[in-house]
Amino acid sequence: MREPVTLPSAEIDHGARVAALRDRVDAALAALEMGAEPPELYEPVRYVLAGGGKRLRPVLLLLAAESYGAELARAMPAALAVEVFHNFTLVHDDIMDHAATRRGRATVHERWDEGTAILCGDYLMALAYDLLAQTRTSRFAEMHRAFHRMVVRLCEGQALDEAFETRAELTVADYLDMIDRKTGALLEAVLDLGALVGDAPETDRAVLRAVGRNVGRAFQIQDDLLDLTADHRDWGKVIGGDLMEGKKTYLLLRALERAEGEERAWFRRIVEAGGLPEGEVDEARARMERLGVLDDARAAVLRHSAVSLERLQTLPASPARDTLHWLIDRMRARLH
Ligand code: IPE
Ligand code: IPE
Ligand code: MG
Ligand code: MG
Ligand code: MG
Repeated sequence: MREPVTLPSAEIDHGARVAALRDRVDAALAALEMGAEPPELYEPVRYVLAGGGKRLRPVLLLLAAESYGAELARAMPAALAVEVFHNFTLVHDDIMDHAATRRGRATVHERWDEGTAILCGDYLMALAYDLLAQTRTSRFAEMHRAFHRMVVRLCEGQALDEAFETRAELTVADYLDMIDRKTGALLEAVLDLGALVGDAPETDRAVLRAVGRNVGRAFQIQDDLLDLTADHRDWGKVIGGDLMEGKKTYLLLRALERAEGEERAWFRRIVEAGGLPEGEVDEARARMERLGVLDDARAAVLRHSAVSLERLQTLPASPARDTLHWLIDRMRARLH
């Protein structure tokens, strides 16, 4: 029998618990042993790993593992693996997206050059596999399979993201398939790997993967929204970068669906030109607001987040599951 649906316990200070786990992750990342020479390699690697970031993926993994009784120390290598892997994807993503800033600082290819950023990413990707392999578990083969399946799907998603820039007729369904791969696959794997470290039953693994997929949808749609609307000092990325790059975001696809007449022609031009000049980003935001597209996106974030939480509540109750619930709920309202 499953526990009935309950709200997260109010007795636990979930915020403090999450902050403590984030600190542990930061400390473990800072303590990673690596060379110093040549500095052309290690300086950018250190720059990326010490550059902040919300550390959501490792914390989600640690909480999933703890829900099944795994100690922090046993789950930490896999938690570091997903964070290091995530950082690798950001370095290469910034090359692909021609992004100049990340986490409020110059991106690696801007501060150094593209070759340096490619190699820095290569190193981080290999480090991620090595960290994963440090997990003390009898289920390593399954963990490796889950991790590698994620890598393949994420690369497919990034390929689609890039290909969509020059594809005219795309639907929100195409977009959801793309983000399930580029963003959802990692969040699915994060929770699945946590479950594997905790030796969770197969049925629970499947539920956690579904939780991760929906968290991924909420997270990426929110990211698209923030790309245009963020005003928090910690956002750290170029506002309107997606529109300037001609990305087929949730917002642009919904705008193309909803707009008519002159309004439609205005948004079509972004597609035809392969992007929008920086000076027209404010107008795009105003037009999207008027069309109800920003509200559509906010509703979609809420919907996918709610689905993930409903699924999560079908899993065995534990304090860690409650903190997971709290964190996923908070992610929906993030400002950066
Ligand atoms: C950015 O992820 C990439 C997306 C999937 C949208 P985060 O917003 O988690 O980035 P950091 O690690 O906190 O900088
Ligand atoms: C996120 O895509 C997916 C990956 C980085 C794999 P974005 O391109 O939207 O991420 P940001 O906005 O640059 O962080
Ligand atoms: Mg990007
Ligand atoms: Mg991208
Ligand atoms: Mg983005």
